[in-house]
This record gives sequence, structure tokens and C-alpha cells, in this order.
Amino acid sequence: MVSVLIGHPFSARLPTVILVTGAAGFIGSNFVLEWLRATGEPVVSLDALTYAGNLENLASLEGDARHHFVRGDITDRALVDSLLAKHRPRAIVHFAAESHVDRSIHGPEAFLRTNIHGTFVLLEAARHYWASLRGDAPEAHAAFRFLHVSTDEVYGSLAADDPAFTETHPYQPNSPYSASKAASDHLVRAWHHTYGLPVLTTNCSNNYGPFQFPEKLIPLVITRALRGEPLPVYGDGMNVRDWLYVTDHCEAIRMVLERGRLGETYNIGGWNEKSNIEIVRTVCALLDEMQPDSVGPRERLITFVTDRPGHDRRYAIDARKIADEIGWQPAETFETGIRRTVRWYLDHAGWVEGVLSGRYQDWVQSHYADRDTPAS
Ligand code: NAD
Ligand code: DAU
Repeated sequence: MVSVLIGHPFSARLPTVILVTGAAGFIGSNFVLEWLRATGEPVVSLDALTYAGNLENLASLEGDARHHFVRGDITDRALVDSLLAKHRPRAIVHFAAESHVDRSIHGPEAFLRTNIHGTFVLLEAARHYWASLRGDAPEAHAAFRFLHVSTDEVYGSLAADDPAFTETHPYQPNSPYSASKAASDHLVRAWHHTYGLPVLTTNCSNNYGPFQFPEKLIPLVITRALRGEPLPVYGDGMNVRDWLYVTDHCEAIRMVLERGRLGETYNIGGWNEKSNIEIVRTVCALLDEMQPDSVGPRERLITFVTDRPGHDRRYAIDARKIADEIGWQPAETFETGIRRTVRWYLDHAGWVEGVLSGRYQDWVQSHYADRDTPAS
């Protein structure tokens, strides 16, 4: 592990490194890549490599001394303690979670385990590590941050004419997923108010872009449309989400980490409210343009199916606080971001094939089969 000092307020006696949980997932991997591009500051990645974690997302960092990957579970307190003691990070950026609403409806337990208990374990480990810095590294103690990545779904559902979610909107989670994320947000808040842990929480809208697992709407539609399979649209297709290109989210998190006020929450969104049917039609049209189908336009594949139980009608983010306080604005419009995304999936057929065939999970099994203790 090579530590590079790049003008961070930490003492020169300490390495500047951050610990990123869930780093092999969709947003986590984009974050690590964006972070290294923007700061050059080393990263220790911690990920359990569930079905959603894919080391191919981080393949471009192979041999990069600034990146160190550890396979492990955030509920493993001994592992988390050892990573903190060994690498002495200046921040923990916490993405690891079970993230798919449909899966939470079919099997909520894993969501409670990782999203609630896992966050609790990280908070406790962070609290003790942070306290240990007080005596021997007071600057590091003062600069330490725990950034918790959360979702707009904690706020519940909006009616068509309701104003967008602000940071003071009441919590009204409706799915097992959003309830587990809301619980984790409350734990983070409590660890700040009770123990003074220097925390920041971000609540973001729907992300899209490279490396997203094709269980989520946009990559699901792209990958199924390319195979000529039906495109399932829940209910009447008029549920509304706000969409943000993933690297914009990553940049926002980096900026909140550097400039956010301790104990505060920041909503992150793209000012891009779209109905699901509009999203699906847009993706079909872009695929038709970039890779025409001899059978005809892909819209023919759209199939309205039974609605998701408890399906939230509308999410919308008021992102004025992060714009005013932190100076963040999304760089991509929906039009540019969705075009880049469709292009990326067309250009990365091998990645898609690996994910859909389970090839990377086979690799995880064979690569880690003989190791019961994760490397640190
Ligand atoms: P993802 O499912 O693609 O990735 C989650 C990652 O966490 C995977 O790599 C997985 O292996 C890892 N993980 C799961 N359980 C773990 C455990 N117990 N220990 C260690 N690692 C574990 O999710 P994502 O879409 O990248 O979301 C990342 C975070 O951002 C989540 O906290 C999610 O709630 C939040 N978020 C996501 C969106 C979105 O649109 N995807 C929007 C707002 C907030
Ligand atoms: O709002 C932020 C959240 O966005 C994140 O916290 C979650 O981790 C992320 O998964 C996402 O949740 P959604 O439930 O909004 O994402 P999903 O892609 O599953 O669905 C988007 C919309 O599309 C939703 O209204 C349900 C609908 N949908 C989804 C699928 C998978 C369909 O109509 N058909 C589908 O097959």
C-alpha cells in the first residue's frame, strides 16, 4: 500500500487514504474511479462481493498502487477494526448496501443485516478509531469524516403537485429497502448527536450510467431490448423518478466530504423528473438510432406488467442546499447522460455478458474458495 501526500490537511505523519465500502458496486466503483482521477489520493476498497459487487468494474485499477481491494463484510467488526488500525483512513465513505427495492420485497432480511446492522458496525468501529486519534493525532481526529450514502426513498412518495423533497421533509419510507436505509440514516444521526462522530449524510435520487447491474430499470431495458425480450413496465408506467448521471453523484459526494457541515444532510438530484414510460421509450429510440433492429422499432417490446407492491408514485429532489452551500451542480443533462449510458452498454458487451452469465461470480468463487480469512 503506497501512501501519497497531496496537500490534505492531515498531518504529514499520517497517510492520506480513504476507506470506501461497497466499492465494487455500481456507484461505489464509479466513485473510486472518479476519486482517483480527481484527487489521486489512495483508496482502500471494502466489499463483500455479493451478486451486485463486480471486480471487473475496478479492472482498470489493476496494478495501481493507489488502490487496495479487500473482500470482506461490513458486519465483520474485527475486520473493520483491523482495516482502520492498519490504514488509518482520514474518511470512511459508506456505499455498501443491498440496493434493489424488488429484492427487498421478496427477501427483506439481507437488507436489515447489511443496511442497518452493517451501518451500526461501521459507526461503532469508526467511533472507536476516531477516539483513538484524539491523543496521538489530534489533526487527524479533527479532520476525520464518516460520509453515509443514502437515498431519496427515505422520504416516501410525492403526489403530482407536491413540492420536491427538501432535507427537512419527514421520513416516510414505504419499502423494506427504504425502511432499512431510513434506519441507517437515523443511526448515523444518533452517532453524531450522542457521540459527536463527525458525520455527513447524502440522499440522492435514481442514478444511471456505466456498471449498473441490469436489474435496475435503465440497464434492464437496454440489455433486454438488445436481446429482443419484453420490456416490463410496472403498472401504468407513470411513476416518476428524478435521474442523475452517476459521475455527477460521485462528484457531489466528494465535494460534500470536503466542504459539508458536520451532522448535516444534503439532497442530491439532477432536476430530471421523468415517468418510467418516458425513460423506456427514450432508451428504445436511442438503441434504434445507434444499433437498428431489422425486426423494427424496440417500442414493440414494451409490456405493461403487474405493479410493484407499495410502488412509490413520485420522487423529486430539491437540490438547492448542495448548490448554495457546496457549489455543486450536475454536469450532465439527462439527454447527454442517457446517450452516454446507452453507448457504454453497447460498447461493453463483454461486461454485460459476464454479468448476465454469472461469469464474475464464478470467478469470485474460484478466486476466494481457499481463503476463509479476507486479506487486509
Ligand atoms: P449496488 O447494489 O450496485 O452495490 C452495492 C455494493 O455493496 C456491492 O458491491 C455489494 O457487493 C456491496 N455489499 C453488499 N452487502 C455488503 C456487505 N454486507 N459488506 C460489504 N459489502 C457489501 O448498489 P449501488 O446502486 O451502487 O448503491 C450504492 C449505495 O448508494 C447504496 O447505499 C444505495 O442505497 C445508495 N443509493 C443508490 C442509488 C441508485 O440509484 N443506485 C441512489 C441513491 C442512493
Ligand atoms: O431513488 C433512489 C433509488 O433508486 C435507490 O435508492 C435504489 O437503490 C435504486 O435501486 C433506485 O430505486 P428504484 O426502485 O427507483 O429503481 P428501479 O430501477 O428498480 O426502478 C425504477 C422505476 O422503474 C420504478 O418506478 C420501478 C420501475 N420499474 C423497475 C423495473 C426493474 C419498472 O417499471 N420495470 C422494471 O422491470
